[in-house]
Amino acid sequence: MLKSKSTEVMFQRAEELFNRISQDNEVLHIFKYHSLRVMHFSYRLASVVGYADEDMKVAGLLHDIGKIGVAKEILLKPSRLDELEYQIIQAHSTIGNNILRKTLDLPRAAIFVRDHHEHWNGNGYPRGLKGEDISLQGRIISICDAFDTMTIDRRNYNRRTLTYEEAFAELKRCSWTQFDGDLVLKFESMVNDLKLPDIQRWSENSEEMVSIFKNK
Ligand SMILES: [Fe+2]
Ligand SMILES: [Fe+2]
Repeated sequence: MLKSKSTEVMFQRAEELFNRISQDNEVLHIFKYHSLRVMHFSYRLASVVGYADEDMKVAGLLHDIGKIGVAKEILLKPSRLDELEYQIIQAHSTIGNNILRKTLDLPRAAIFVRDHHEHWNGNGYPRGLKGEDISLQGRIISICDAFDTMTIDRRNYNRRTLTYEEAFAELKRCSWTQFDGDLVLKFESMVNDLKLPDIQRWSENSEEMVSIFKNK
C-alpha cells in the first residue's frame, strides 16, 4: 500500500474514497451532509483545544463510513431496533476503523473513528473505554455527532428536531456520563460564535447549510 506523501494528499484520498463510496451507496448518500457537518464541527472544536489536524478532519468526515454495508431498512428504521439490529449498527465503528487502517492506511484517524461511540462512563462501544482512555478526537466527534443528529430533521425516525438550546441542554445533561463535560462547554460557545441560522433552515439537509462553515 502507498504511504501518503503529505497530510493534504491523505485528506484528498479520504475525500475521494468518501465521494466514490457515497455516490453508489444510498445509505452513505443520505448521511453525506451529516458527515460533512460533523467534519466541520469536529475540526473547529479540535482547533479550540489545539488538536486540529488532517487526521481529525479525515475521522470527522469518515466517522460513519462503516455503515456502508448496513441495510437502509435498519439504519432508517423508525421504530425501536431489536437486539440483532442494534448489534449490526454498532459494528460500524469497528468496520470504519478497519477501512481507515487497512484501506486508507491512516492508523491514527482510525482510532478516532473507532472511539466515536464510546461514553465517558465506560458504557459506550466497541470497547467500553472510559474517560481519558477514549481518544480526545473520538470524544470530540461524539459531541458533534450527537448535536448534529438532534438538530436535523428526524421525521424519518418519528422524532422531533430539537432547538439549539434543547440540544445544548441534552449535551449538558449527559456530560460526564456520555460526554466529556469540558468539551461540551467549549462546543457550546464555539457553536454560538458560529451563529447558525434559524433551526428550520438548518434542519433541512442541504449543501447551503454545509457552506456556512466555509464562510466563517
Ligand atoms: Fe456513528
Ligand atoms: Fe454520525
